[in-house]
Amino acid sequence: MRKKIIAGNWKMNKTVADTSDLINALKAKLTEPKAGVIVCPPYTSLALAVELAKGTPIKVGAQDVSVNDDGAFTGEISIGMLKAAGCEYVIVGHSERRQYYKETDELINRKAQKVFASGLIPIICVGETLAERESGITSQIITGQIKGVLAGLTPGQMETAIIAYEPVWAIGTGKTATTQQAEEVHLLIRTLIAELYSPETAEKAVIQYGGSVKPDNAKELLAQPNIDGALVGGACLNADSFAAIIDAA
Ligand code: PGA
Repeated sequence: MRKKIIAGNWKMNKTVADTSDLINALKAKLTEPKAGVIVCPPYTSLALAVELAKGTPIKVGAQDVSVNDDGAFTGEISIGMLKAAGCEYVIVGHSERRQYYKETDELINRKAQKVFASGLIPIICVGETLAERESGITSQIITGQIKGVLAGLTPGQMETAIIAYEPVWAIGTGKTATTQQAEEVHLLIRTLIAELYSPETAEKAVIQYGGSVKPDNAKELLAQPNIDGALVGGACLNADSFAAIIDAA
């Protein structure tokens, strides 16, 4: 059975002081979590989060990474810096990066390769917009994104990576995909992985759902056969609600 993994994407929230409050509160609540737990604070809080999470079940990830190793790229953060800070995971291709910073499947694929090359694990995001869903082209969009972002990844990498399906229209909007809508796309992604790799690899692949996951809808979503965890935004900023989602797994 695949282990469920719950990741919290803090986005552009929490100062260094807020970070110690939140991680300490989580540590108190998550002594023996029933699922894997990853927190993804902003860059300025990564080193502190790693320090505070040492010896606990909480793992730390970054929200993005540069495709470049070093040099004149003002404002960017390299994979070497993330690794040295003690991160184990990196989110790549979040829809906010796709939308506001025009990231493409090709760039996201290069970022995923970069993350693997340094021995870290990418959380690779895909998802359709509202217009795409309403035009009935969700499967087509997801198929294109999955093929693009996974290009060239080995079966071993595919089995280690985390895929996050996040319908763009459900992120931060309070609208959640119905469990049926979510499960349908998760099954599609698993079928695509089986075709691109093998049924064995597809069986091992961890596919998270993201988009307004809250304590009150987490249980039903996480009970679906192809939903292996959640990528949580808003609800991960509070220790009680994030812990409740982890409990629901
Ligand atoms: P949300 O964000 O839970 O606030 O909808 C999810 C995400 O963007 O990963």
